[in-house]
Amino acid sequence: MIYSFPVLFLLYDSLTSSPMSFYKVVLRPLLFLLAPESAHHFVSGFLKFLYRIPGVPFLMRSVFCIESSKLKKTVFGIDFPNSVGLAAGFDKDAKLYDELSTLGFGFIEVGTVTPKPQPGNPKPRMFRLKADEALINRMGFNNEGVESMILRLRKRKSRVIIGGNIGKNKDTPNEQAIDDYEICFRSLFHLVDYFVVNVSSPNTAGLRDLQEKEPLLKILNRLQEINSELSLSENEKSNTKLKPLLLKISPDLGISALDEVIEVCLESNLDGIIATNTTISREHLKSSDEEIQLFGNGGLSGVPLAGRSTEIIRYIADKVKGRLLIIGVGGVHNPDDALEKLKAGASLIQLYTGFIYEGPSLVKKINKRILIDHSIKN
Ligand SMILES: Cc1cc2nc3c(=O)[nH]c(=O)nc-3n(C[C@H](O)[C@H](O)[C@H](O)COP(=O)(O)O)c2cc1C
Repeated sequence: MIYSFPVLFLLYDSLTSSPMSFYKVVLRPLLFLLAPESAHHFVSGFLKFLYRIPGVPFLMRSVFCIESSKLKKTVFGIDFPNSVGLAAGFDKDAKLYDELSTLGFGFIEVGTVTPKPQPGNPKPRMFRLKADEALINRMGFNNEGVESMILRLRKRKSRVIIGGNIGKNKDTPNEQAIDDYEICFRSLFHLVDYFVVNVSSPNTAGLRDLQEKEPLLKILNRLQEINSELSLSENEKSNTKLKPLLLKISPDLGISALDEVIEVCLESNLDGIIATNTTISREHLKSSDEEIQLFGNGGLSGVPLAGRSTEIIRYIADKVKGRLLIIGVGGVHNPDDALEKLKAGASLIQLYTGFIYEGPSLVKKINKRILIDHSIKN
């Protein structure tokens, strides 16, 4: 039971808006002594351990979850218990979604998963830019492959809403990428609540070229065909319910490329867009040039991404006028950041880097703020 003490201290964090939280003063400095990827594995292991102790999942739910009919939201036909999700990349292999569901998230996106397992890029491949409250990563879709994910999702214990973020293997040429997306889509169809096509990671060479009109339209149209086929067979040719399909886009798209992507999404009847993935930009950073250069290539996430991702959300929302729904992600580190994205036009938000820098109580803090802010439309 001694191991559940951190949970009780984190209760204090979720009740106070003080910047001097237990997580920031005690836990984070300890975790930051470890290399970022080691800290990730340590926290994952600890969460798994806690989850197995009788009574602790209940305790964690009582501390971190907040339930209210006012937080509930129906988006692309799914009833979300709240609008705050965990972004893709944290639970790449669907190993932790039950445990993470006790931290108050309204939904969890697993992946990016590829058809075959692959090791990703050589380590180190994840770095902290502490002065910027940011991360740089070039993980390169390290994952155990879709077959392993199927086995894990079949053992789902909680009822948490799960998004399946799908990608292509590194050694699959772009001309055959469509087959990789199809394999993942078919394999996970009955196991996830919505799908995300990831063509925006900067860490798989050439992947972002798939954001161009022709290849993108081919991939999305093929997935929508399979979507109809599988939905029909599932519903005995009546009452067809397509699986919500979204596209995750890069924040580095220029206006004309973004317009083209929006057009393709509308043409292929997508449900929505996830804006955005990490950026290759290194502008306006507080960290020294030496540090930034030392870390090298990769996608930047966290505080420096917030403005650009919100700008893209606002642009898409103004343009599509509700025809596509938006999940806003990028630099959400406090309730204000979350509200800004919702007010810019996002229906839901996700976080990753904010979870690392601010700790698990961030989810409840955002939800409490949404509850008292009446200007958010449902
Ligand atoms: C270490 C790391 C790994 C990530 N892996 C993925 C991934 O596999 N697929 C994906 O779509 N996004 C991935 N992302 C991007 C996040 O889902 C998110 O879009 C991005 O980090 C911006 O949000 P944030 O500022 O809240 O972190 C990853 C991000 C990080 C930091």
